[in-house]
Amino acid sequence: MKGLILSGGAGTRLRPITHTSAKQLVPIANKPILFYGIEAMVAAGIVEIGIIISPETGGDIRDAVGDGSSFGASVTYLVQDAPLGLAHCVRIARDFLGDDEFVMYLGDNMLEQDLVSFVGEFTSRRATPELGRGTGPTAQILLAQVDDPRSFGVAEVTDEGNVVALVEKPDDPPSDLALVGVYLFDATIHEAVAGIEPSPRGELEITDAIQWLIDQGHEVAHDVLRGWWLDTGKKDPLLECNRLVLDTVDPRIDGSVDEDSRVEGRVVVEAGAQIVRSTVRGPAVIGADAVITDSYIGPYSSVADRCSVTNAELDHSVILADSSISNVARLTDSLIGSHVEVDRQAHVPAGLRLMLGDHSRVELEQ
Ligand code: G1P
Repeated sequence: MKGLILSGGAGTRLRPITHTSAKQLVPIANKPILFYGIEAMVAAGIVEIGIIISPETGGDIRDAVGDGSSFGASVTYLVQDAPLGLAHCVRIARDFLGDDEFVMYLGDNMLEQDLVSFVGEFTSRRATPELGRGTGPTAQILLAQVDDPRSFGVAEVTDEGNVVALVEKPDDPPSDLALVGVYLFDATIHEAVAGIEPSPRGELEITDAIQWLIDQGHEVAHDVLRGWWLDTGKKDPLLECNRLVLDTVDPRIDGSVDEDSRVEGRVVVEAGAQIVRSTVRGPAVIGADAVITDSYIGPYSSVADRCSVTNAELDHSVILADSSISNVARLTDSLIGSHVEVDRQAHVPAGLRLMLGDHSRVELEQ
């Protein structure tokens, strides 16, 4: 089985962070979102992985992932010139995929559940077709119950568990079962993506391709998600995801903590990091060569490599690499890009002095 990770897209909802970097490289607990997907594939035995990239951010993704050997995988990059839909990605990957079965995974999704059982169920359903409709499934989708299905692909499933219809972002959803961004296919999907037309939003929808399979009489199996699932493409879900993942990290102190500092709870301090006259209360991760001085780092904070935090307090925040936070009473619920400086100065006239990138958002305290 091969893997196909979709890592194109403009990331408009995470601007300005995504003006300069791919949304799939935004870190969760100091590790790019995309890496979790690659690791999940490798853990399920899938090591031949194609990554769809865009011309704009593809270079950064190549730099971060390389040839895949550091993950124990072999990675092939496939450029999608324009965001023409998930089924369009399958078309681009046709030669790479050959006639193999594959798992398709949206690179900005994070799942608590691993891929091992999802892949195992597909394999055993295909090996024992008599348990289903006699043919064995040509596709398997992962579904999750959501409060508002209108912003997802939505599945209609019969009481017997058959997927009978799929509709993309419906105004009037047939159920509360949303398509999670993980799909399993055999080579029949290539006929399906060749057989569909662009949707009203101008994209070749994978949802329509799966509906095509159903319409042609193919069996589409499904699983209902266990655990959490987040589309990290926006700030608040991203912070929530950071919180969920930090709750699972193994504490480790490879950097230095001076005798006037306290490190409490589930905390990672990477090599070269220094904690000086500060308190770090986990869950939290402090990246390599970061320097925390006279500060408090509270729960659910990820401070990336080479950041400096001086005379400041922060919690429930994600700070990307090479940024500095100084003299700030309390930074909370924040996502700060890389090479950002936040400082409080005493000079007069008093006032806020800002230099913010396009699409930045600042919420001032009262
Ligand atoms: C895509 C799929 C949709 C699915 C969603 C999951 O939507 O088209 O069916 O439910 O991912 O995140 P998009 O993120 O492209 O709007």
